[in-house]
Amino acid sequence: MNTSHERTIRPARNVTGSLNLPGDKSISHRYGMLAAFAEGTSRFSNFSTGADCASTLACMEALGAQVKKLDDGVVEVTGVGGKVTPSKHALDCGNSGSTMRMMSGLLAPQWGGFTLVGDASLSRRPMERIRAPLAAMGAQLTLTLGHAPIMIQGTPLKAIDYTSPVPSAQVKTCVLLAGLQTEGTTTVRESVRTRDHSELALRAFGAELTREGNSVSIEGPQRLHAIEAVVPGDLSSAAFFLCAAALFPGSALMLHHLGMNPTRAALLDVLTALGAEIAVLNLEEKHAELVGTVQVSAPAGGLRSTEISGALSAQLIDELPVLAAIAPYTSGGIRIRDARELRVKESDRIDLVAKNLRAMGAELKEFEDGLEIPGGQTLHGTTIDSGGDHRIAMAFSVAALRASGDTLIQGAESAAISFPEFFDLLDKIAER
Ligand code: S3P
Repeated sequence: MNTSHERTIRPARNVTGSLNLPGDKSISHRYGMLAAFAEGTSRFSNFSTGADCASTLACMEALGAQVKKLDDGVVEVTGVGGKVTPSKHALDCGNSGSTMRMMSGLLAPQWGGFTLVGDASLSRRPMERIRAPLAAMGAQLTLTLGHAPIMIQGTPLKAIDYTSPVPSAQVKTCVLLAGLQTEGTTTVRESVRTRDHSELALRAFGAELTREGNSVSIEGPQRLHAIEAVVPGDLSSAAFFLCAAALFPGSALMLHHLGMNPTRAALLDVLTALGAEIAVLNLEEKHAELVGTVQVSAPAGGLRSTEISGALSAQLIDELPVLAAIAPYTSGGIRIRDARELRVKESDRIDLVAKNLRAMGAELKEFEDGLEIPGGQTLHGTTIDSGGDHRIAMAFSVAALRASGDTLIQGAESAAISFPEFFDLLDKIAER
């Protein structure tokens, strides 16, 4: 029998069905944080059900915002009107890098002292990337050997023009949230255009920003007002099911009301390059976020091969584990380079993907910044060590669908970080 920390995944014959997925994690973090900071009461339906976004809401509640979950599932957030109340206790960001990095920018110009802590995984992740720009703005922020706990003594900041050395939407957002509250124009320049949910959300909450190529500027100080919104379904969660469907000729999967923001949708191009048939229907725009229905079916002759490198690796960063996990089942394999960032996610995802694929019998090459996984391989069920990383647990549950024999996923409970419904929905669409 499985414990709540383990899940057995049986091979599937096919993947079919039609689903609505819970709200996007990145958008929910931003809507939750901005609503809690804004003036007035915001309401969100289809808010992310993941533990990460609950961490953001809990931290913002500890800073004076009010959060209510209404009977119809709507999340209601009453904001602090631009001024938080310092909390006596440390703010617990749990497993969530987005919460910790974005909130640091929000709090650095506020009045009072704040301590931000996280779980063991988050406490190993690099925080110098946010300390450097905030310090350049004059923030008083101390790390613990480059990591959390983060101590902030809030103080007025000065605007900067910052070129980010890492392609990171979290770093960009951190600086923009500090810039929102700082006199003058703060600019963030990036070499790769990272997800732009913060820019779109800030505008939805009433702020003005300007974009020129890959740089974005905000003139502070500005005030935010409450909004009502439906959060689009999470494309990074959908990625597991889209990849699962792409593995089975004869599959037919339809996912409704999915976020289709172009800075997030590169997976659809990669699946198309692999030969999957993808259709996007009913495209519409809500608070400047594109939303649509995605239909996927697998090619009769199986998936082909592809290379993911350069800017594409940054744009696909959350989808790389599942793409790597299905790579052995393609005919020509998948090569991933320029993805060093994978090593500093919730786990070292290059290391864990390599280790678990090998445990299933795959051959592959591991690089400092990626993986080369030949196609045409058959995998067998085994015990998977997810390392407590939600995306590793879910990626290998997908690989398990085409393996011979059962696969035991250890640390399966971690799926709840972003997608608590994952295993139930996987059971629904996997035909056995
Ligand atoms: C996120 C940005 C990405 C991504 C993470 C969510 C965000 O991280 O991996 O899951 O919501 O801004 P980086 O900003 O570190 O690349």
